[in-house]
Amino acid sequence: MTSAITALRSLLFVPGNQPNMMEKAMALRPDAFIPDLEDSVPDDEKTNAREVTAAHIASLAAGGTKVIPRVNSMDTGIMEKDLAALVGPDIFGVSIGKIYTADDIQKISSILSDLERKAGLQDGHVRLVPWIETAMAVSHAYEVSAASPRIIAVAFGAEDYTNDMGIERTEGEQETVYARSAIGVAARAAGVLALDTPFFSFRDPDGLRSNAQDAKKFGFKGKFAIHPAQIDIINETFSPSQAEVEHAQRVIAAFEEAERIGRGSTSLDGKVVDVPVVKRAQALLELAEAMQNIAGPGN
Ligand code: COA
Ligand code: MG
Repeated sequence: MTSAITALRSLLFVPGNQPNMMEKAMALRPDAFIPDLEDSVPDDEKTNAREVTAAHIASLAAGGTKVIPRVNSMDTGIMEKDLAALVGPDIFGVSIGKIYTADDIQKISSILSDLERKAGLQDGHVRLVPWIETAMAVSHAYEVSAASPRIIAVAFGAEDYTNDMGIERTEGEQETVYARSAIGVAARAAGVLALDTPFFSFRDPDGLRSNAQDAKKFGFKGKFAIHPAQIDIINETFSPSQAEVEHAQRVIAAFEEAERIGRGSTSLDGKVVDVPVVKRAQALLELAEAMQNIAGPGN
């Protein structure tokens, strides 16, 4: 698993009907672009958004950033048209909102297989990022997350979730604790990444940082951005910090020293260092190294 760490820390939404924003996005380096055909596009712009997005996919992908368009959900009746317009070699995957069950994933996967065959792509080329954003989907979080090898990550949508629950969405997001916990655990059990809902106050960097840190505590590995200014804060939050890396190196050095003198545990700064602590430190260093490789030139 460690050799194939996929970084999806920051995923920038770009409204699919806005060519100017698409152009602007090309100079940015989030881990993924999410050209959006769904909720950021008004109904009478859906066809235009499909065309504008299809025309920009190759250039968005050209810099090496993954492109994962979000299409309209199954219940809209236009998901298939969206997929037919977008499936091709330049997309890493597609993201689809309002998934309820594993059966939904099977239906989508078989549509994708047909489109892949027509496009001459290998079966399974197109990855899937389903949104878990209803009470039904949260209740099926593991089954949805594990429903197909196409799934690379699942996304939590707090706005639709709180709407579906008939509850208010507050700044502190206490009301999402159960859903975020359930999704963090389900995603981990299924071996996929959990990605957190966008933070709408895009001129509040401190609020974003604290919100992203909360998500990280539940096991989320990345977060959607709606504005370019959110990318750096999100990347920073979901990457190991220099202090964490240095601490992990000291933990490993202390343990190696203990092993040399025949001991299976030791202490560092007044805290025990034993096997699970060392494993955590090793995992952090592997993650840091993987992030380093991704954050190459231009990032
Ligand atoms: N992608 C690419 N470029 C973006 C962008 C995005 N998501 N959000 C803003 N920009 C651009 C703007 O076009 C502007 O470009 P300019 O300087 O050439 O005019 C620049 O970044 C600065 O933007 P700013 O003026 O601070 O914000 P704004 O008022 O233009 O836009 C939003 C604010 C919220 C309308 C806009 O960020 C947006 O549409 N975000 C996406 C929303 C979305 O996708 N929602 C669905 C998921 S929940
Ligand atoms: Mg949604």
